[in-house]
Amino acid sequence: VHDRAAARGDAAFELIDLRDHPLPHLDEVLPPAHGPSEHGYTRAWAATVAPFDGYVIVTCEYNHSMPGVLKNALDHVYAEWNNKAVGLVSYGGAGGIRAAEQLRLACGALQMADVSPDVSIPLATEFGADFATFSPSAHSSAALDVMLDQVIAWSAALAPLRAAAPAAA
Ligand SMILES: Cc1cc2nc3c(=O)[nH]c(=O)nc-3n(C[C@H](O)[C@H](O)[C@H](O)COP(=O)(O)O)c2cc1C
Repeated sequence: VHDRAAARGDAAFELIDLRDHPLPHLDEVLPPAHGPSEHGYTRAWAATVAPFDGYVIVTCEYNHSMPGVLKNALDHVYAEWNNKAVGLVSYGGAGGIRAAEQLRLACGALQMADVSPDVSIPLATEFGADFATFSPSAHSSAALDVMLDQVIAWSAALAPLRAAAPAAA
């Protein structure tokens, strides 16, 4: 996903891998919507996601939902997600669509604008038997382009709201 996105000329993309940003189980005194965290690791995570105008979240599916690590990373931050577009890519036995649909609920609560076009990748047809070798279909690649078009458009459209919002500390 990042390779294809980065080849575009109309936006810049960076890869954030949650393995590089380990967080403990949520242990905040107040909900992140109430203000910046006391914890250095939460502030560091907030500072990592803050600069971006929009996001593409790539998720697998665990027990018909998103993985706990992803939900935990979303929950640690609030203001830095607000008024930004988000597109979803999911993979799993059924394309990870149950995880993606649940993710939309969380994104709404975080005041993120989830675009409708998405990419759902079935393990059986686009991954090897090792679940690691990825051969995207022409359909998935085309769907990704459509989704990215809208994430970029909505990211720009929401810029006035971000500019008017109080700066996240
Ligand atoms: C705890 C667990 C639960 C899973 N539940 C589902 C599921 O509900 N639906 C599905 O399509 N795949 C499910 N899978 C299979 C994963 O989608 C598959 O292992 C995928 O490769 C996981 O991505 P990852 O290797 O990036 O963690 C599950 C895997 C694990 C480990």
